[in-house]
Amino acid sequence: MLASCLSLVSWYGTYLHRCLSAAGLSSQMVDVDDETTIHFWGPKRSPNYDSSSKPALILIHGFGPRGEWQWRRQVVFFAPHFDVYVPDLVFFGESTTKSSERSEVFQAVCVGKLMEKLGVERYAVLGTSYGGFVAYHLAEMWPERVEKVVIASSGVNMRRSDNVELLRRAKAEKIDDVMLPQTAAQLSKLMGLALFRRPYMPRFLLHDFIDKLYSDNRKEKMELLKGLSVGWDDTVNISPLQQEVLIVWGDHDQIFLLEKATELKELLGEKARLEVIKNTSHVPQLEQARQFNNIVMNFLCGSSSLSY
Ligand SMILES: *[C@@H]1O[C@H](CO)[C@@H](O)[C@H](O)[C@H]1NC(C)=O
Repeated sequence: MLASCLSLVSWYGTYLHRCLSAAGLSSQMVDVDDETTIHFWGPKRSPNYDSSSKPALILIHGFGPRGEWQWRRQVVFFAPHFDVYVPDLVFFGESTTKSSERSEVFQAVCVGKLMEKLGVERYAVLGTSYGGFVAYHLAEMWPERVEKVVIASSGVNMRRSDNVELLRRAKAEKIDDVMLPQTAAQLSKLMGLALFRRPYMPRFLLHDFIDKLYSDNRKEKMELLKGLSVGWDDTVNISPLQQEVLIVWGDHDQIFLLEKATELKELLGEKARLEVIKNTSHVPQLEQARQFNNIVMNFLCGSSSLSY
């Protein structure tokens, strides 16, 4: 009890809930099938709620703290114009499954089923990092439902060699030592890779983060990393998407290097454009939130001409 009173992370979590609530979202749980339950933040449903009044936008988090920790600035910015949905992917936050499936394709199926259950037929999707893999598959599987796609800081075109290089940059032996930090030193290293300007973080705060945000479902999250369908080969096999795609990247991204973004744009074909945000690394949505939001807003609200 005393520990939780003193936890800045818990305090900030409460603050995040207030922000999302004030933006008109509420925390909800839905059984998407017999095996899987998804927790998400979505528009509060009042009796006269009209889901067709605003277009829908799904924000899909990356491999890290659950959704609200990664998308606060986007929820606040987009909620006046969109019905914003922030699902926790399976094994993040309170989302869980009895299924043994662990791939990002499975995550995409779960998000798709969630939207079906909610009766939302068409939507735009924005995914970052691991969530970008999910967004890609969602768009590929359901071109009639997904109207526009934003892939941020996400090496959908990841090869085995990219993994090897990442481990070298992180001076780590296993990918879970990078993505699922258990010690203050590991978390500090991850933040050094993910942020262009790393804030000073005292050890107690790093421990607080690990305790509150990185320790649940560790075994299952390791299985998710092993279950990824990309990053095992030296070849890339992704097909262009039918939708317009915006790729957003930090010029100093140390998780997925900028060269992945330029290659991804080529692979995704004519309907893909790339925006690079200066002086940011792997989380431009946090590091330069205003610029990130404007770029995404222009894309989502722009006409379909690819004139710039
Ligand atoms: C990027 O950072 C450098 C050095 O910190 C600074 O000189 C430059 O003005 C920054 N550029 C932008 C676009 O923020």
